Amino acid sequence: MNNETQKELSIISQEEVEEIKNALPKSTFGGNNVKHYQGFWIRESFLARILSFQRHFIARDTDLIISGLPKTGTTWLKSLLYTIVNRAIYPVNQNPLLRNHPQELVYNLENDIYGEAFAYPRPQHLDELPSPRLLSTHLPYAPLPESIRTSNCRLLYICRNPLDKFTSNFHFITSFVKNSNIGEMPHIEDLFDDYCEGKSLYGPFFEHVVTYWKMSIEQPNKVLFLKYEDLKDDPELYLKRVAEFVGMPFTPLEESQGVISQIIEFCSIGNIKELEVNKSGVINKFFEKKSYFRKGEVGEWRNHFTPAMAERMTRLMEEKLRGTGLSFKLIP
Ligand code: A3P
Repeated sequence: MNNETQKELSIISQEEVEEIKNALPKSTFGGNNVKHYQGFWIRESFLARILSFQRHFIARDTDLIISGLPKTGTTWLKSLLYTIVNRAIYPVNQNPLLRNHPQELVYNLENDIYGEAFAYPRPQHLDELPSPRLLSTHLPYAPLPESIRTSNCRLLYICRNPLDKFTSNFHFITSFVKNSNIGEMPHIEDLFDDYCEGKSLYGPFFEHVVTYWKMSIEQPNKVLFLKYEDLKDDPELYLKRVAEFVGMPFTPLEESQGVISQIIEFCSIGNIKELEVNKSGVINKFFEKKSYFRKGEVGEWRNHFTPAMAERMTRLMEEKLRGTGLSFKLIP
């Protein structure tokens, strides 16, 4: 075992976790006991894994890390990034995504790697992953481990308009509660009030998004900022951007052979949702694999928001994004 592995394996003592936990402001929303840690909300039970990730992860310059709030399209971006990076190794009909859920090929650092009881490779396997390692996180920018911020590793940030993100999250939570019988079925009004007050996992939403947005402007070679709605509108343009950003641009020959369209089609929700591997089974003990693929549309919030909810969120969005140059498309 080398030094890096040894460091990654170090476990934070339960006493220390408890001490930090007890000093943090707490709240409850979406059926979760949460803590306000370094400016964002986390499940209380996730503090240990986040501390481990922050203290022990050592980024490689070649790492490619997807970041984004839950339900903003991270699974889609995982499929796309995995396929783009490995396109010379696997032709489409041998793509490992035919046999693995995207979450199993691009590990989430705080949950899959530093989580306590999950089925994926443990930290000691991080060293064994070939470069470029494809990883992901939900953490905001500022609390990321120092080596992610200071090394030459690259971050691909995905975001989505806050109304569709909320709607997708609502469906994810309700399907989880229904299937697992854990907790009470949440009311959309309560979740929405919390969300507008900045209470959502890894949120507040706007602070998360705006910080990455600013970093992408300050350091365009470090952070690529992507919007779900843009990917839906013009996937070819954004696949080219992703490929260039990770240093693997499509060649004129690939373009003429239709490689970009093949990747778009393969990773489309219509195709990937129907793969046997994504239809049954669970991720991380609890989450149904199929719950990561639902409608995949822009503007679905219109089926769930009352006019008052839409007005409240639109006003909030204007207030929070004023002067940032960032905007979201709300309808297709
Ligand atoms: P909906 O619930 O609106 O359908 P995440 O992967 O970050 O958890 O986000 C999940 C959302 O992305 C869900 O949105 C899901 O349907 C959508 N999604 C998953 N795979 C997709 C794909 N290949 N193309 C477009 N959207 C996809």
